[in-house]
Amino acid sequence: MGRRKLVVGNWKMNGLKAQLGEVEAIGALAARHPAVEVGLCLPATLIAAADGVKGAAFIGAQDCHMKDSGAHTGCLSAAMLAQAGAGWTIVGHSERRQDQGETDTDTAAKALAAKAAGLKVILCVGESLDVRDAGDAESVVSAQLLASLPEGAAADWLAIAYEPIWAIGTGRIPTMEAVETMHRALRAALATTIGGEAEGMRILYGGSMNGDNAAELMGITDVDGGLVGGASLTAAKFAPVIAAAV
Ligand code: 13P
Repeated sequence: MGRRKLVVGNWKMNGLKAQLGEVEAIGALAARHPAVEVGLCLPATLIAAADGVKGAAFIGAQDCHMKDSGAHTGCLSAAMLAQAGAGWTIVGHSERRQDQGETDTDTAAKALAAKAAGLKVILCVGESLDVRDAGDAESVVSAQLLASLPEGAAADWLAIAYEPIWAIGTGRIPTMEAVETMHRALRAALATTIGGEAEGMRILYGGSMNGDNAAELMGITDVDGGLVGGASLTAAKFAPVIAAAV
């Protein structure tokens, strides 16, 4: 069964209006690689402006609140992000789990809120270095995934990103064998809950993916694309990652 590769940049807390030219250039790159679904998850402040220059890329958010509205100072609802021009959002990124104390339950609730507002969702999971060193990575991350999985999870609106925490921004990546083993384990875990739907669900790898390692990583069975931080901040760095997905 063919799963279209999905390559998404996560700009994290980077990007001012001066960087909209990079968004435009990445949108043009996306148009040159129609076989790949390309997107950028931007700071919320850039979403509306980026929507006008995104070309063939989609624009996404990096988080949303689980409630529709109310007394939640500083937070943004999924409907607000959708209205600004987001088509997707990330939920459960390890930086939010660590910095904002977000739980698996929060992550599942945010995914459901996003879906209700018409957003597609990238749900992140991944292990710490301690867990990796203890040899428990597959079972821990599989359990995290199932605990974070929203009701009604389906391949047409949800993708998973496996991001080992120790590989994010460090230049270190797992061995190709370890990535293959993890992605196979995650698809098997999904199948226990959503059955045959697991076969169509995209499972991305994230953590120090760049133009040098992207082809090998995305060549692995069950790796259906990438969630890319630092190497997505300019079109020049992101171009070889997108090309590697073809
Ligand atoms: P880096 O590609 O900078 O390691 O970040 C990965 C990531 O966290 C994407 O969500």
